[in-house]
Amino acid sequence: MCGIFGCLGKHNLITQTLQGLRLLEYRGYDSAGIVYRTAQGKLRVIKAVGDINQLTARVKTRPATSLCLGHTRWATNGGVNLKNAHPQVSFNEQIAVVHNGIIENYDACRTKLQKKQIKLRTEVDTEVIPNILYLLQHNKHKIHQYLRGQYVFAAADTTTAPGFFVAKSGTLPLYLGRAKDTVYVSSDTMAFPATVQQIIALNDGDTGEITLDGSKFYHLGQPITKAWQAFTPLNKQTDKNGFATYMAKEINEIPDVLNRITAAYQQDETLLLHQRQFHRQLSQTDCVHLCACGTSYHAALIIAHLIEKHLHLRAIAHVSSEFTADTLIDKRNLAIVISQSGETADTLACISLLQAHRVPIVALCNVTSSTIAGQSELCFPLLCGPEIAVASTKVFCAALLVGCLLINRFNPADCAALGQLAQTTLQQARQLIHLPANRPQKIFFIGKQIDYFLALESALKVKEVTYTHCEGYPANELKHGPLSMIDQHSLAVVYQSDSTSNAVAEITARGGQVITLPPLAPENPLNFITRIIPAQIMALDMAEQLGINPDKPRNLAKSVTVL
Ligand code: AGP
Repeated sequence: MCGIFGCLGKHNLITQTLQGLRLLEYRGYDSAGIVYRTAQGKLRVIKAVGDINQLTARVKTRPATSLCLGHTRWATNGGVNLKNAHPQVSFNEQIAVVHNGIIENYDACRTKLQKKQIKLRTEVDTEVIPNILYLLQHNKHKIHQYLRGQYVFAAADTTTAPGFFVAKSGTLPLYLGRAKDTVYVSSDTMAFPATVQQIIALNDGDTGEITLDGSKFYHLGQPITKAWQAFTPLNKQTDKNGFATYMAKEINEIPDVLNRITAAYQQDETLLLHQRQFHRQLSQTDCVHLCACGTSYHAALIIAHLIEKHLHLRAIAHVSSEFTADTLIDKRNLAIVISQSGETADTLACISLLQAHRVPIVALCNVTSSTIAGQSELCFPLLCGPEIAVASTKVFCAALLVGCLLINRFNPADCAALGQLAQTTLQQARQLIHLPANRPQKIFFIGKQIDYFLALESALKVKEVTYTHCEGYPANELKHGPLSMIDQHSLAVVYQSDSTSNAVAEITARGGQVITLPPLAPENPLNFITRIIPAQIMALDMAEQLGINPDKPRNLAKSVTVL
């Protein structure tokens, strides 16, 4: 993961870099740092453990500079501390690097550098990059010959004219953006300021020497030309709209999201055309593989269940990282990948495997400019706008509704009623799950069939933002083991249906607390889409009681771009 942002120009570069980094915090917030060129041509590095607020507090002055590069880190190798934070500098402080990804041959690089009497000071793989760049001197574009792995980085060098060097290996994103008198580099185009009108996306194997007067590009060491592409800056909509947290704001957006999707998928010409294309693909398919991670995987479980139930077509949901070369696939299959960010490395790895088997790929994706959207033959947008809180909420409901619309076996009136149903559920959420005064030590969400998948998603939400032990279980499965865990310190939240009464009796008999969650609007077969809302609110309220910021839970990041 990790976010890279930097700029080359004249005005407020340190402030602009901090602003850009703030927009990339979704990629990690273990530590952050910047490097800028001083008036004397030296590199000045400032770092902080924690998020961009911590870094900003340490940036006491913001002198004019010609170059500033910044980084926000999600730790992979090397602990979370100041030493391991980026930027990482070469042994002689000539070159500084901000990096996203993993250098797989880090040990071999380290040994080579030690043989040349270059001592490394940290535990992070990144530190080898500025030192190898130092050894390459004017041949930096050959860097890919020395490093292995998926990585992107930007580097500043005191011995060159003001500018920076960039490199990309693999699928991690890195973009350049151009405004009137500034050039930017960013892990995500979303972080570019509104003045950016043109962009370049780096490709696997590219390197570039970027200056204000012009840039030189190479592919696997050979000179190439790369053209600037027109770019329309995105509407960032990053304010919390009066809510205390993004998670609260995003849960409250669910009614609007559902209404927006229903309208767009019934009226938008392109979406209608794509739906017809999808139905043609389905008619030629003997098995649908759905691949996704986390919350998106829980949506995949439900959509797979509905495809089998309504279309009588074999459908298998896979956790992306468990989808391997051993999984049986062939070109008569169809793949549906689901992703909020569109950058999840585990899901991108599935796409490579699927492409190798010439399996058509359809994406359900919220970020339509993302790598996953770009790698899919058809991309169905989830139309949620930015989802910033690490815990995914509105996108889960959106993926379910888009999945149901694609299955095309539901009454349009039931789809149209969902926005109002979500609104009612939001209003009643805290009565539906009334948190007990004594905080439970362990929580079980249980349900049957689709409700079991909702139980899994509910448990994930509570775990993510409250750090409380929590599990989702099929209702009838408790007696096969987990019932031994039930005592007066446990709480079971039961997605009530005709077949959950035995489980409730078994838990109550053993002193466990039980909250039953009846379906709202049972007559609407799509009511499960909004049924998750009380659990989302429960997780949010518990986080607030525990003093945890649910937008940035510890150890996590919004976009998971490492395998
Ligand atoms: C959801 O609350 C999580 N933060 C996480 O499980 C997420 O759903 C998962 O990492 C997949 O991300 P994606 O949808 O962006 O691919």
